Amino acid sequence: MVDLKMATLARTTEPRTLPPPSDDKRWRIVSTTMRRHGFAPSALIETLHAAQEAFGFLDDSTLNFVARSLGIPLSKVYGVVTFYSLFRMKPEGEHTCVVCMGTACYIKGASKLISAIEETTGCKPGETTEDKKVSILVARCLGACGIAPAVILDGDVQGNITPAAAQARIEEWMQIGRAHV
Ligand code: FES
Repeated sequence: MVDLKMATLARTTEPRTLPPPSDDKRWRIVSTTMRRHGFAPSALIETLHAAQEAFGFLDDSTLNFVARSLGIPLSKVYGVVTFYSLFRMKPEGEHTCVVCMGTACYIKGASKLISAIEETTGCKPGETTEDKKVSILVARCLGACGIAPAVILDGDVQGNITPAAAQARIEEWMQIGRAHV
C-alpha cells in the first residue's frame, strides 16, 4: 500500500532543472509546472496531471524525468501512478490525436477542428472511440504557435491543419481498424 502523504515523498536527491527526455515542446508544460512549485515533492500529483494532459498517458521516461527533477525515488512515483486510477501508463486508444486549444490555435480555428473531429469519431476531448482505435486529447500550447492551428497525430506535430485534413487522417485510422475486424 502506498503511503500517499506527500510528506513521505522525501527527497533522495536535490531537485533540479534537467534536460527533458526529447525536444518535444510538450515537456515545457511539465517543466513549467514543476518550476512553478519550486520543484517541491508536493508538486508530484499536479506534475503528473500536466504530463498526462500533454501526452495522453505517462510512460517510463516521463516518470523517470519527473522523479529525478523533483528528487523523489522512482519507486514512490510508480506507487502514486498505480494507486490512482485516473493515471494511465498506456494510451487508451491505438492512435492519439491531441488538439491544441491554446490562444494562437483557438484564434486560428481550433474549435472548428474539435467539432470536425467530434463529428468523425463521435468522441469529445478526453474520450476514446468504442473500438479503442482513437483517443482525442487537448493541450494548452504545444509551443508551435507559429503554425497554428496545430495538432499532434500519433506523435507528429502538424501545423496549419484544416478540419478536413484532420478528419481524413482520423478516418484513415478508423478504416484501418475496421479492415482488421
Ligand atoms: S497555442 Fe497552439 S501551439 Fe501554441
